Amino acid sequence: MAKTIDLPAVAGARLQAWLAGDGPVNLVLVHGYPFDRTMWEPQVEELSGLARILVPDLRGLGQSELPTRGRTRMRDYADDLAAWMDHVEMDRAVISGLSMGGYVSFEMWRRHRGRVAALALLDTRAEADGPAAKEARVAARECIRREGMRAVVDDMLKGVLGATTLANRPRVVDHVRRMILDTVPTGAMAAVDAMRERPDSTDDLPGIDVPTLVVVGEEDTLTPPSQAEAIAGAIPGAELVRIPRCGHVSSLEAPTAVTAELQKLLQRAALA
Ligand code: MLT
Repeated sequence: MAKTIDLPAVAGARLQAWLAGDGPVNLVLVHGYPFDRTMWEPQVEELSGLARILVPDLRGLGQSELPTRGRTRMRDYADDLAAWMDHVEMDRAVISGLSMGGYVSFEMWRRHRGRVAALALLDTRAEADGPAAKEARVAARECIRREGMRAVVDDMLKGVLGATTLANRPRVVDHVRRMILDTVPTGAMAAVDAMRERPDSTDDLPGIDVPTLVVVGEEDTLTPPSQAEAIAGAIPGAELVRIPRCGHVSSLEAPTAVTAELQKLLQRAALA
C-alpha cells in the first residue's frame, strides 16, 4: 500500500509523492508529460515486495505545485528527485523514467550520477528538440494557454496511445485522458518549455556504466523503436526490449511486460 508524502517547500512549492514497498533495492519511478504518478500504479502494486519505491509527481504536474518564481528546466526536475531521495533517505536507486521521465533520468545521470544504481529508459529519446519540434512546442503551449487541456486531449490521446490500446483498452484510454485533463495548464506549459529547452543527451550515452534497460512499445509513434535502438546501441551493455501491441505509455498499455522487465533490472541492480 503506497502512502502519500509531502516534500516541504522546494522553491516555495509543495511536492507530493507515493512511498511504497520494502526490499533490498530502491526504485524511483518518473512519469512523463502530461501525466502523473498514477501512470505507475501497476508497477507500484507488483514491485512493492521487491523494492522501496518512490513515485513523485514532478513539480507543476499531478498533485505537486509549480514554484511561483522562475522557469522550470529539466535539471530542476532532477534536482527535485535528488531532494526527494534525501528526504526519504535513499542513497542510491534504480531510476526509471518514461518519455519526459527519461529526459529527467538523463539529467539525474549528468547531475547526480552517484545516486543512480541502474537506469530504465522507457519510450524516450536522447536527442534534444530540432527546430520543427521546438516550433510545435510553442504552438502546443499557446493552445494550452488559450484553451486549457481540453483543447489538446484528443490529439494527445491519438499521439501517445498505440493503435491496439485505442481499439481495445478503454480503461487505459480513460486513465490517460483523466491524467491529461487533470493537469494544471501552468504546470503543463512549464513542462513544455523545459522539454523545448532540454539539452541533448546523446553524448552522455557511451559513458553510462550502470545496468541499463531500454523499453519501447512497438506501436510508439512519438518516440518510435528506432529511438530506443539508438539509445540502447550507444550505452555499453544496455538491454533493449520491444513490446508488441503497445504504444508510448508502456507502463499502462503493457503493465505486465514492463513490470517483468523492471523486476529483472531490480535483481541485476541488487547483485551489482
Ligand atoms: C512525454 O510523453 O513525456 C512527452 O510526450 C515527451 C515529449 O513530448 O517529448
